[in-house]
Amino acid sequence: MAEFDQNNIEKSDENLLRLVIMNPPDKGHEALRSMFTQIPYVWLQAECTKYEFLQEVIANQTTPHVVVVAIDADLEKACKAIERLAQELPDVAILAISKRDDGQAILKALRAGAKEFLTMPFGVDTLSEALRKLEKTGKAQHSPNLGVNKKEKTLVISFLGSRGGVGCTSLSVNLAATLAADPHNKVVLVDLDLALGDADIALDLIADYTLSDLVENIDKLDMTFLNRSLSKHSTGLALLPHPLDVSDATMITEDHLKRIISLLAACHTHLVLDLSKSLRPTDICALGMSDFIFLVVQLEITSIRNTIRLLSTLDADGKLGPRVKLVLNRVGMVTDITREKAAELLGRPFFWEVPNDHKIMMESRNSGTPMVKSAPVSKIQHNFSDFADAVCSKTKANKGAKSFWHSFFTNKS
Ligand SMILES: Nc1ncnc2c1ncn2[C@@H]1O[C@H](COP(=O)(O)OP(=O)(O)O)[C@@H](O)[C@H]1O
Ligand SMILES: [Mg+2]
Repeated sequence: MAEFDQNNIEKSDENLLRLVIMNPPDKGHEALRSMFTQIPYVWLQAECTKYEFLQEVIANQTTPHVVVVAIDADLEKACKAIERLAQELPDVAILAISKRDDGQAILKALRAGAKEFLTMPFGVDTLSEALRKLEKTGKAQHSPNLGVNKKEKTLVISFLGSRGGVGCTSLSVNLAATLAADPHNKVVLVDLDLALGDADIALDLIADYTLSDLVENIDKLDMTFLNRSLSKHSTGLALLPHPLDVSDATMITEDHLKRIISLLAACHTHLVLDLSKSLRPTDICALGMSDFIFLVVQLEITSIRNTIRLLSTLDADGKLGPRVKLVLNRVGMVTDITREKAAELLGRPFFWEVPNDHKIMMESRNSGTPMVKSAPVSKIQHNFSDFADAVCSKTKANKGAKSFWHSFFTNKS
């Protein structure tokens, strides 16, 4: 019967390919499973181990786009299951797989109703190609382009600091919570300050799982596991916290991060990444996957000097440079340098400026409640609403559209 079923978990799967595997238990079982979970847009909905139960397993959940049937254990039963499935659910694409290169068996599976056939072992690229072919034949048509050409691309936003305490976590948490207040959005904040992060404190969340739990189970990682691992805040914002144990920070590699970010991107509209200050390999990897790199600056000498150094490194990379935007934090605080002088030294204008509001920011941090909830009509929260609009309007064609946040606050005040 089904070994797991995620009917009960929250589904935001419109960009995912729902897939069921019919595979009688054998020693290659785990390897096959992990092959599918390596494809970011695949949502492994259920696994079935008996051909006789396949129909029943599928009937108990949202109709999958693709059913993969391993035929080696019993060709007769496998073909019967394929035939029934093809008759009862003609829109479901069936992919038959086998370890044997047996022409007769292939023909039989295709005649029974399978649309594609793959001989094992196969690589992720071959599998991905087969899934795309199924989509082109129109069989997996309910899958919106297998997640490759989503209507709106998931926006990945990084906050990079020019020194400790410059405001990265405050800005990450409050921008992410503001974006999450729009019910059209599904937002996750990832704390990539792996050793010393505090996004969990800023959101007052005690997490059951952290990044290190995902990494420890990276081969089994799929949508079910991922969704269960996220901590949910009452604002709607999801959090993936830094590892609990400081020493676990080193076990997270760029490959782990790429897999986790791709999977998160497949089921969220916005990813906000709170980076560390030490430009670890994971930070560099995260920068490479970001649409916006917000480099946070304050009007004082260390921050300005480090920003100049960071800009020269980031600008040297033709891909990263254009994505870097300066964000000036704590505007209005008494400083030695004016913002005009800072912009001149940095050689570019500030993309965004966040006002200084010690009282409201401290209250929000101490209570673990983002300002969208703790101070929704404050000037600083209005600033975050406009910031969210500026980020979204840069990526939306409809720039004149009235934003959710504006109507939200207009109704409130
Ligand atoms: N715009 C702001 N106005 C007032 N205080 C701020 C502002 N931004 C950040 N802070 C304060 O600065 C301190 C450091 O901020 P934090 O976000 O933890 O920095 P980082 O993550 O870069 O180390 C916190 O106490 C926070 O409350
Ligand atoms: Mg921080």
